[in-house]
Amino acid sequence: MKRRELKYRINWQDPWKKMRNERIRKLRVTYDKDLRIKSAEDFSNRYKWNDYESGREVVNILGNVLNKDFEVLEIGPGPGTLTIPLSEKVRKITCVEASKANLQILKENLKEKKIKNFELINECWEKAKIENSFDLVICSHFLWMVEDLEKHLERMEQFSNRYCVIVQPCGRDEVVKNAFEEICKERYTGQFEPDADYFAYTILREWSRLLDVRYFEYSFELNLEEGIRYIASYLGKFIEVDEQVAGKIKNFLIAKVGEPWVVRDKAVVMWWEPEK
Ligand SMILES: C[S@@+](CC[C@H](N)C(=O)[O-])C[C@H]1O[C@@H](n2cnc3c(N)ncnc32)[C@H](O)[C@@H]1O
Repeated sequence: MKRRELKYRINWQDPWKKMRNERIRKLRVTYDKDLRIKSAEDFSNRYKWNDYESGREVVNILGNVLNKDFEVLEIGPGPGTLTIPLSEKVRKITCVEASKANLQILKENLKEKKIKNFELINECWEKAKIENSFDLVICSHFLWMVEDLEKHLERMEQFSNRYCVIVQPCGRDEVVKNAFEEICKERYTGQFEPDADYFAYTILREWSRLLDVRYFEYSFELNLEEGIRYIASYLGKFIEVDEQVAGKIKNFLIAKVGEPWVVRDKAVVMWWEPEK
C-alpha cells in the first residue's frame, strides 16, 4: 500500500463500496430475451461511430505523451474503443480482456481495420500473468469493474515504467436522466452519475502523484431500438424494464429526441508518472 502518513484523510472507501454496489447491480430487463447479445453489438457500434471518435479524442489529448516506440498495456479493451486509434500511434498494444464474447468482437474490429500490432490475453486482469513492463498502461471506462481500486492502481503502476492513463466517463446525457425521473418517478440525485474518476484522483494524490487531467465531449448516434436498450441499461437497475416500461421509454424518446438520437457524453483523461 502506497498511502502516505496523513493527519487528515478523505474517507472514500465507504462511498466507493456503496456506489459500486449500485453500479454493478444486476439488470432487470425482461422485454427482450436477446438483450445481452444485442447490447454487446450496440456497444461496439456506438464506439465505432464516426470512426472511433471518442478513442481518437483520447489519442489527441495524449498527443505529446505518446511515442511511436511505445509498448502499451490496455486493461478491459471491450470492442476496441481506444485500442484501435491507439494502436495506430504506438509500436505494440497488449490487451487483457476477461470476456470471450467481447474479445471476439475486438478481434473482428481489429481485422476490419487491418491492425496487426497487438497481442490479446483472455484473462481477468487481477490474475493475468504478465511478464514484461510497458511504456504506458491504460484503462478506459473500467474503474467500476474493480472491487479494490487501490490494488488496481497499484497494479497499473507495477507494469508501467513511464505513464499510467485512466479514461472515465464524467458526464451523462440529460435525456437519460430525464427518462429516469419521468419513468421511475424518482428524482435524479446522481444514481448513475459516472463519477469513479474522482476516487482514483483522491487515491493517487494520497500517494503524492501529480496528475494531468483533461476532459472531452463526444457523441454517438442511436436508432430507436438501440435508444430503448441504452436507457433500459440504466433504468433496469432500479425498476424492471418489461414490455410496458419499454413502451414508455419508446414514447419518451419519440417525444423528446426523435430518431436518430445523438447522445452527448463527456469523458475525462487522467495521466501520471508512477514512482520510479
Ligand atoms: C465498460 S467496458 C469498457 C470497454 C472499453 N475500454 C471502452 O472504453 O469502451 C469494460 C470492459 O472490461 C472488461 N472487463 C471487466 N472486468 C475485467 C477484468 N477483471 N479483467 C479484464 N477485463 C475485464 C469487460 O469484459 C469489458 O469488455
